[in-house]
Amino acid sequence: MIIAIGSDHGGFALKEILKEYLMSMGYEYKDFGTHDESSVDYPDIADSLCKSVASKDADLGILICGTGIGMNMCANKHKGIRAAQCSDTFSAKMTRQHNDANVLTLGGRVIGPELAKEIVREFLVNEFQGGRHASRVEKMMNIER
Ligand code: RB5
Repeated sequence: MIIAIGSDHGGFALKEILKEYLMSMGYEYKDFGTHDESSVDYPDIADSLCKSVASKDADLGILICGTGIGMNMCANKHKGIRAAQCSDTFSAKMTRQHNDANVLTLGGRVIGPELAKEIVREFLVNEFQGGRHASRVEKMMNIER
């Protein structure tokens, strides 16, 4: 499984921590930047990462900005992307199981690194349950179409 990960300057520190965490869990990742603390525009990072997830170059994506909100708004404007903003582990689990979310957005200035790792873990280890949720996700995607 390949995980796409990206951040702006507000999420850079957390991105670096989560890259280590992904590696320790045996996941391959692709880093979409940013690569230091200099100010950048979060829509640019969201755009390139979401294109990669939508085209299935990456299986799942993680986007981090200061709040996670700007990244989430940008991600959800891409066709095929279902991005979930999570600050708790239960939501991270449920959004994979019920919404088939394919991008997780996090606030680097909102949550600490240990909670972020737990959220990422729940997001990655849980799978879409299908069944009654499949038709709901299909209805969601029909809105996009
Ligand atoms: C950058 O200062 C900040 O606006 C950004 O990281 C993010 O929180 C936007 O939603």
